Amino acid sequence: MQEITIQTPDDLHLHFRDESMLLNTVPATARCFRRAIVMPNLVPPVTNAERLTAYRERILSAVPPGKHFEPLMTIYLTDNTDKETVTSAKAAGAVAAKLYPAGATTNSDTAVTDLERLYPVFEQMQKIDMLLLVHGEVTDTHIDIFDREKEFIDQKLQVIHARFPNLKIVFEHITTKDAADFVSQANEFMAATITPQHLMLNRNDLLVGGIRPHNYCLPVLKRSTHQQALRKAVQSGSHKFFLGTDSAPHEKHKKETACGCAGCYSAWSAIELYAQVFEELDALDKLEGFASHYGADFYGLPRNQGTITLKKEQWKIPDAIHLGNGEDIVPFFAGQTINWKVTDA
Ligand code: NCD
Ligand code: ZN
Repeated sequence: MQEITIQTPDDLHLHFRDESMLLNTVPATARCFRRAIVMPNLVPPVTNAERLTAYRERILSAVPPGKHFEPLMTIYLTDNTDKETVTSAKAAGAVAAKLYPAGATTNSDTAVTDLERLYPVFEQMQKIDMLLLVHGEVTDTHIDIFDREKEFIDQKLQVIHARFPNLKIVFEHITTKDAADFVSQANEFMAATITPQHLMLNRNDLLVGGIRPHNYCLPVLKRSTHQQALRKAVQSGSHKFFLGTDSAPHEKHKKETACGCAGCYSAWSAIELYAQVFEELDALDKLEGFASHYGADFYGLPRNQGTITLKKEQWKIPDAIHLGNGEDIVPFFAGQTINWKVTDA
């Protein structure tokens, strides 16, 4: 196949960041996605309706003229979030609330330490049809980093899902066979996003032949058997798995350092990278469901109008993206050639 046209897709998980970065991140996503679920882990985090409204305005002012793009906003749960917080956030347009176990990832220090305290909040979210998005890793220091996702399922996610079976939960950026199996077997209120990096890479790509800071993200890349399980999950065409890039930029100097930040900035090539994976899997016919249908359906949103077209065409991802303030970002897959390109962006 030389060309593929799909209904306009959505990115159901990404990090736009703030301030000057928005001038790069928002156009990158708006070039081919119509909507995106925007993560709230700013400093300070987006914890309430007021911050959410202000952040949405900042994002909208970075949308290039003539582009139709809608940020779908989320709030960040803390130990102090209460029923009123989620209710007023929903009224201000929040579609979901994000659960970060405290310390799990970038800017999560003020997040949740005691899940049970949030049960009244989950109850309310279930009632008002607000989704719960989870970063699925435990943070106990004695748990090996490669086991943290499975431990989260066993210790936390099963418990929340059993107690709130009608609460829609998105298990974000899954990285293991355990997670793929869990989501497949759970009821229809449980789904998952999968990133391009977890479909394309495994932990060898992080560690063999030298450490590769630009392949470092959280949850960390796992062994190849897990990568294969994720590839099978998307190849199956199951509506429980949908597109969420987890595009998460950090300035180059914050990645290429002794203690580098986690996150891959994939927005400039994400849909093309997914196309490449689906082609390798001989499953290009499943790309549209994954990218444009299942996420919207799970969120209860209308599917997008319009289409995008990808052409078989080799191009090289740039070595760096200049932010215009003297800072650079090294994009995911920098310097490598990929085979698909959006033509009408
Ligand atoms: C994300 C970030 O930098 O905000 N990093 C990452 O590695 N994925 C946070 C997250 O989604 O865990
Ligand atoms: Zn993320």
